[in-house]
Amino acid sequence: MVKTTVSLIKADVGSIPGHVTVAKPVMNIAEKKMAEAQKAGIINSYYVFNAGDDTELLMTHSKGENSPEIHGLAWETFMACAEKAKKLKLYGAGQDLLSDAFSGNVKGLGPGVAELEFKERGSDPVIVYAADKTEPAAFNYLLYKIFADPGNTSGLIIDPRMTCGFSFDVLDGKENKSVVLRSPEELYSLLALIGATETYMIKKVFRNDDGEIAAASSTTKLNYIAGKYVGKDDPVCLVRAQSGLPSVGEITSPFLHPYLVAGWMRGSHWGPLMPVGLKNSKCTLFDGPPRIIGLGVQVSDGMLASDDDGKPMVVDLFDDPAFDLARQEAMELASFMRMHGVFQPARLGPGAMEYTTLPQCLASLEGRFKKEK
Ligand code: F6R
Ligand code: MG
Ligand code: MG
Repeated sequence: MVKTTVSLIKADVGSIPGHVTVAKPVMNIAEKKMAEAQKAGIINSYYVFNAGDDTELLMTHSKGENSPEIHGLAWETFMACAEKAKKLKLYGAGQDLLSDAFSGNVKGLGPGVAELEFKERGSDPVIVYAADKTEPAAFNYLLYKIFADPGNTSGLIIDPRMTCGFSFDVLDGKENKSVVLRSPEELYSLLALIGATETYMIKKVFRNDDGEIAAASSTTKLNYIAGKYVGKDDPVCLVRAQSGLPSVGEITSPFLHPYLVAGWMRGSHWGPLMPVGLKNSKCTLFDGPPRIIGLGVQVSDGMLASDDDGKPMVVDLFDDPAFDLARQEAMELASFMRMHGVFQPARLGPGAMEYTTLPQCLASLEGRFKKEK
């Protein structure tokens, strides 16, 4: 049986106003490019949406992960979107397209990528997460809760297909090396790493007994690629659900409460990650607070399951009163953190600030420091 690939590729190609949200004409270009690619048989189905100022391309196809054809399609689509954004003089037009030339894979060029390739089961629910004004390590806590914390995922205790636990492929973003750790056996070592969000981020999650892929997230580090601050690497993540994998409700329940992530204004502050529906996918207050979109789809015979008119059926999971409490708490936390202004712990620590525009501001002070006697 052929395998199906779900690719979620995103970039900030320009936004309105400032870094708030994506403009409709830019989304229309992405929609048109995707429709053409579907007609040409490059992809089987697609859904275009935005997470704050990021344009998000969700695609299904049979070309596997890291396909030059699929990555090339995403790159061309983003280039066309950026061109439109430039014409309209939208903000930061083309900001995440860090190279002039595409060479087979968008990784390392600016866009963020999460891809899952799997043999379809009887039925395959997939949850799509896309966040704005934060970084890939923001998903460390989320993926730990979903795949390693029985307090969140009771299936780890109750479902015999899941009691084997899950393995986490963890990237050291500074050294560019990775390690696979098994939960529950190596849970404490896993937490020792992924609790340090400045350095470590989860790339993939697999089920222990058969190696079945369960989740994938983007791990782009724009600042390392560009060699200077060019915004945070607003991340995306795909999680498979049900029938021996965490249920949809176990995948969403970490968002009963918000938690603090690095990013927000100028990529320099801790702020609450607030779950919102698509209609609220815009970062308005202090360029935030950091927001996350959660979409639910079914993958069916290589396609996003579609309605009678051929439109993919996408469920906007956070557009629901069940997440009102998290939103309320998020705004209380946002207010509390903002009371600290630029003082730590509202501002990121010195290590993380190295990758912002702050060092440029402090450079002129260098010669004025006098050694204490
Ligand atoms: C955060 C982000 C924004 C900008 C801020 C300043 O990821 O993109 O918070 O850092 O709006 O933007 P510039 O320097 O473009 O005026
Ligand atoms: Mg922007
Ligand atoms: Mg963004």
